[in-house]
Amino acid sequence: MLETSKKIRKAIFPVGGLGTRFLPATKSIPKEMLPVLDKPLVQYAVDEALEAGIEEFIFVTGRGKSAIEDYFDHSIELEKTLKDNNKLQKLDLIKKTILKPGSVSFVRQQNPLGLGHAVWCARNFIANEPAAIILADDLIDSKPGCMKQMIENWNGGNMVATMEVEPEKTSSYGIISPGKVIQDKIEVKNIIEKPNTKDAPSNIAVVGRYIVEPSVFDHLGLQKKGTNGEVQLTDSLSYQIGKAPFFGYNFHGTRYDCGTKLGFAKANTSLAIKDSNIGNQFKNWITKLNKN
Ligand code: UTP
Repeated sequence: MLETSKKIRKAIFPVGGLGTRFLPATKSIPKEMLPVLDKPLVQYAVDEALEAGIEEFIFVTGRGKSAIEDYFDHSIELEKTLKDNNKLQKLDLIKKTILKPGSVSFVRQQNPLGLGHAVWCARNFIANEPAAIILADDLIDSKPGCMKQMIENWNGGNMVATMEVEPEKTSSYGIISPGKVIQDKIEVKNIIEKPNTKDAPSNIAVVGRYIVEPSVFDHLGLQKKGTNGEVQLTDSLSYQIGKAPFFGYNFHGTRYDCGTKLGFAKANTSLAIKDSNIGNQFKNWITKLNKN
């Protein structure tokens, strides 16, 4: 029997990965601090959580990730300089990155053993509540934000954001075996991490937004290694099937895989085109570029 508070107040942001696909940049900059236009990826993730009503923010960090902690803190010298130079708009902008005192926690994942392990590292902060999980390197451009859409459609149990991918791309994703469909929700009958196209039960892929019941931590605690030798979150979600409701949610919006060069370039291009300051100039430039 599930015992769960209906409100989702807490979100986990796993930011402990090595980001090897973005080397050499990620040698000294956390992947989640890479900017899409002028905002780091992690800020998009936090903005999405705030819009969804999240009150507590738990970051799972690792070595070399201290820039993330600094980003969410005051920058006394910079604030003073902006104030002295009467750059009040800029001052306001950086003050908005500061979350309510006491609402942000950082927990260290000493070794990047996989997403499931990172989530498990946050267990003591989550205790006995359902929690949202947001992967900052999956930037989802949507109104309302993807997590708000999910929470509005969540009724207890586990939920993952889903989208259709090209069949030859299944080996890059967790793939669900779909059951009954209720509007944008799809019952998850099974979930497999990174199957080859021929073994994939569908082309419906999981992207980096989850809502999990606290019981998921029990299985994560076993720290079983799955695909690629990593502790996989999808394996623990799969173990919960039959014990708790489990749905995929077909979000409305566009997802950019900013953990890859192609996705990151697409996100920057797409958001630049939409930008109220530079959008028109950028579109003109792209049009000329295409003609050459
Ligand atoms: P990725 O699968 O993109 O792995 O993680 P990665 O290590 O960051 O990047 P590559 O594959 O080496 O290029 C997805 C999300 O899960 C977090 C990452 O920080 C990223 O936000 N993660 C992954 C952890 O927090 N810990 C891990 O052990 C693995």
